[in-house]
Amino acid sequence: MPSMAHSEARDFTKTKQPNGKIVKNGPKDESRRQKIAQQRKSLPITSVERQLVEEVRKNDTLIIVGETGSGKTTQLPQFLFNAGFCRDGKVIGITQPRRVAAVTVAKRVAEECGVELGQKVGYSIRFEDATSSSTRIKYMTDGLLLREALLDPFLSRYSVVIIDEAHERTVHTDVLLGLLKNVQKTRSQSTSQMSSLEKMKASNGTVLEKDNHAQSQSFQKSYHGTKFSPLKLIIMSASLDARGFSEYFGGARAVHIQGRPYPVDILYTHHAEPDYLEATLITVFQIHLEEGPGDILVFLTGQEEIESVERLVQERVQQLPEGSRNLLVIPMFSSLPSEQQMRAFRPAPSCSRKVILATNIAETSVTIPGIKYVIDPGLVKARSYNPITGMESLIIIPTSKAQALQRSGRAGREGPGKCFRLYPENEFSKLVDSTVPEIKRCNLSNVILQLKALGVDDIIGFDFMEKPSRMAIVKSLEQLYLLGALTDDYKLSDPVGHQMARLPLDPIYSKALILANQFNCLEEMLITVAMLSVESIFYTPREKLEEARAARKCFSSAEGDHLTLVTVYRASAEWLEKVKMANNKDKTAERSLSKWCKENFINNRSLRHARDIHSQIQGHVEQMGFRVASCGDDMLQFRRCLAAAFFLNAALRQPDGSYRALASSQVVQIHPSSVLFRTKPECIIFNELVRTNHNYIRNITRIDPLWLPELAPQYYATQN
Ligand code: CDP
Ligand code: MG
Repeated sequence: MPSMAHSEARDFTKTKQPNGKIVKNGPKDESRRQKIAQQRKSLPITSVERQLVEEVRKNDTLIIVGETGSGKTTQLPQFLFNAGFCRDGKVIGITQPRRVAAVTVAKRVAEECGVELGQKVGYSIRFEDATSSSTRIKYMTDGLLLREALLDPFLSRYSVVIIDEAHERTVHTDVLLGLLKNVQKTRSQSTSQMSSLEKMKASNGTVLEKDNHAQSQSFQKSYHGTKFSPLKLIIMSASLDARGFSEYFGGARAVHIQGRPYPVDILYTHHAEPDYLEATLITVFQIHLEEGPGDILVFLTGQEEIESVERLVQERVQQLPEGSRNLLVIPMFSSLPSEQQMRAFRPAPSCSRKVILATNIAETSVTIPGIKYVIDPGLVKARSYNPITGMESLIIIPTSKAQALQRSGRAGREGPGKCFRLYPENEFSKLVDSTVPEIKRCNLSNVILQLKALGVDDIIGFDFMEKPSRMAIVKSLEQLYLLGALTDDYKLSDPVGHQMARLPLDPIYSKALILANQFNCLEEMLITVAMLSVESIFYTPREKLEEARAARKCFSSAEGDHLTLVTVYRASAEWLEKVKMANNKDKTAERSLSKWCKENFINNRSLRHARDIHSQIQGHVEQMGFRVASCGDDMLQFRRCLAAAFFLNAALRQPDGSYRALASSQVVQIHPSSVLFRTKPECIIFNELVRTNHNYIRNITRIDPLWLPELAPQYYATQN
């Protein structure tokens, strides 16, 4: 083994655990179809196709539990399609908690069916739709199905809805479960009791009429004289928590699909690792240099971390002797453009090894072939909500036992594997058994807004599988009221509440756009909201700190981070325009934009994602009849608009240079990455709270404290 400062070997202790199952990967195009057919035949689910279809016929609600990789997500919809569940043009909908899963699985299934994506098989995720009128198997995010319910309250296009990855218990999954329970009940009663439909029509009619005429018409059409066929509901889950789901659905039947596990060696460190990223790097190279062939999957907590480890691995690979440089680093996180996500699924070039740096999307949502080694630092980034302060933040916490098991299982899919847990063995027993459902640790204003728009007024009485605390519900109701989305009696307000419910954004951002329309700065706010929707626009490599800082200065605005983001976006758009004028070729322009990003230390992936989001939201606001106007040089106007929108996140400077958030009285600090880090203005608004060892706030603009009672009297005029 070549000697390298960073490759000091780690000692791991070892326990055995069986896991995983067979995966094969067909690389060459010619034989690919055959290989895929063969692969499908060998999936555990294939041998039980007939029984499964029979179970779905017999049971309106079915719970299917099966090891990740057993073929649930890709095969079951095809089984049901072939069994005639799409007769009369009906659609099978499969929800995924993550965008990346919806996209990659739809691509795979389209390929398996030998059809073009967007035809028989398609996907639909927020800001991207690849479906057509001929789509019968539709993968989508759970959030998207919730939005569809706004337009089609009975989900009348669907004969089957499959809630996949239900064990993840995202807030959208939990709300969907409650909603689908109702829809299912109503639809099965529909043929005999048309009168109950009349009632529902009346209660939903208000929303639909206000939304727009076309939607209302489509509702009429689907409703009028229709005999709704019963809705088949299938809940799929990787881990074994079928009982909870079954109880919630009145003792619904649960079936288990057996996996074919290969043993996975679990290795722990002897001591706690002080720096888990460094420990990760060391372990990557230890595997690369000492272990047999097989790809490596590393679980990290987010885009920023992944990108910094990506750079470090690339740097260190260069220090290896030439014969050992065959290590290919591939990032994998949910906001990565889909064509880049696909890289992880391609086999590594011969004689080289892939190392995939992924967030927990690779735990269960996506199946990456070729993995033999898993590195698990044991951490995950999670949402956390404090109902007392009303603030939501992202924190890095230890995984649950269930997550750790899922992660290690990724190593044993094609043969025996190894999982390196970067913590001592006694730590494992201290982990919680399973993750707390998201609905119990997030701000509920988005959920409440959607439920209200669906005609569910009694939020506290809603049949949640696991009820959020009363305090969290009340706090979120109060926030929505302060944003003007709800009336005094907590009904959706007109037009603001209805407009906010239509926009696929956090309520606070939707409100910002509505206000910007009035403040004549919608152009600036659209850019701001798009840029705030992605992670880390700037990137600062450790070895080029000064250069990166200098580059960032060119975009910096003394007013704050929001305007800085607007400046970056506009500069990139101007650059793109110029290149397009000169070349007239989209491809060249895109390539040239990556170069521009690199020179300016802008994260190309994030910027592209922001551009996509921008064009989608622009479509929405234009449909709502808003005119995208700019306030030109009148920055005061834009800042006033920011203050009016984000008044709940205002903070005042304290004598010691820290800040006090006005709504929560929490002490917070300006994050060093903010352009206002040094200037420290007297009064600011911010968009993000990051909890590490400090309460850091990010994305900040300076405002005049006198604006608050003027622009948000509903909140500040009553305070002293
Ligand atoms: O849903 P479940 O975890 O049970 O399995 P699946 O996602 O249906 O995957 C079944 C098999 O399809 C995997 O083991 C892979 O071999 C293959 N697959 C793939 O090659 N590419 C994808 N994007 C998805 C699945
Ligand atoms: Mg699956």
